[in-house]
Amino acid sequence: MDHTAFATTSRGLDRSSVPLRLFEKAKRFGIWNPSAIDLQQDRRDWLRLADDERDLVLRLVALFQAGEEAVTRDILPLISVIAEEGRVEEELFLTSFLWEEAKHTDFFSRFLHEVVQTRADLGAYHSPSYRELIYRRLPTAMHRLATDRSPAAQAAASVTYNVIVEGVLAETGYHAFSTMLASHGLMPGMCDAIRLLKQDESRHIAYGLYLVSRIVAADPTLWADVEHQLGELILLPMQIIDDVFGAYQQMPFGLTPETFSEYAIDQFSRRVAWLERARDGVTSTAVPDDADQPYGAPSG
Ligand SMILES: [Fe+2]
Ligand SMILES: [Fe+2]
Repeated sequence: MDHTAFATTSRGLDRSSVPLRLFEKAKRFGIWNPSAIDLQQDRRDWLRLADDERDLVLRLVALFQAGEEAVTRDILPLISVIAEEGRVEEELFLTSFLWEEAKHTDFFSRFLHEVVQTRADLGAYHSPSYRELIYRRLPTAMHRLATDRSPAAQAAASVTYNVIVEGVLAETGYHAFSTMLASHGLMPGMCDAIRLLKQDESRHIAYGLYLVSRIVAADPTLWADVEHQLGELILLPMQIIDDVFGAYQQMPFGLTPETFSEYAIDQFSRRVAWLERARDGVTSTAVPDDADQPYGAPSG
């Protein structure tokens, strides 16, 4: 397909648009280097953890590692659709998105190699509900875009990827990690990485909320499908959280599993509330969610 015009030599880039404001943030905050994070103390801490603590850390890393690889491998069909539609501002932002997911994959791989020092197959940590979401639903929703470019398919992809996988599962996982490690003064390298990963994820989730809102605002009849998918998919991360903590008779690190289920539901509710504003026809130029907050500020 030939180009008929270029945004930058005709209308100009919309610097005030949500995606370009997210791109600005990505250029400032998304440039950290996973290879520069010092993991030496993490290795020393790993060696003195109790067996069940080590098992929980490895279990969470196994979920993150596969999850980051999955989102890296599954984002391209969405970028392709957005590019084809000529949404240049969104495409510029999405270049940072894929690069950041690649770095997240890179970081957990370093952690496995240098801190855990294992090459074991960690697939045993992937429960049936995790497999349903990450092995099946996520790639299905994303790769459907190769043949179905409709707004409904785009919304379904973003609900699965940005709202459920990133917005509920990953966010809750990061929260669990920082709670159990930072509160015990353990693994400073991992804690640093999680802080940086969370910043990146907040932009990704913000973009997803922007995308779904844009689609629903253009065609409110799509809301019913979005709402149905949200209601159905939320069960999976909740089950995954149960699976993670259900594996232990006594909670490692003295964790209270209910706090994480509550955290997950809170994340979910805040994102749904944002999307409902689009359903109700509220147009907003704000960056969705908490991505406009200074980083490090508590979300909520
Ligand atoms: Fe990520
Ligand atoms: Fe992400």
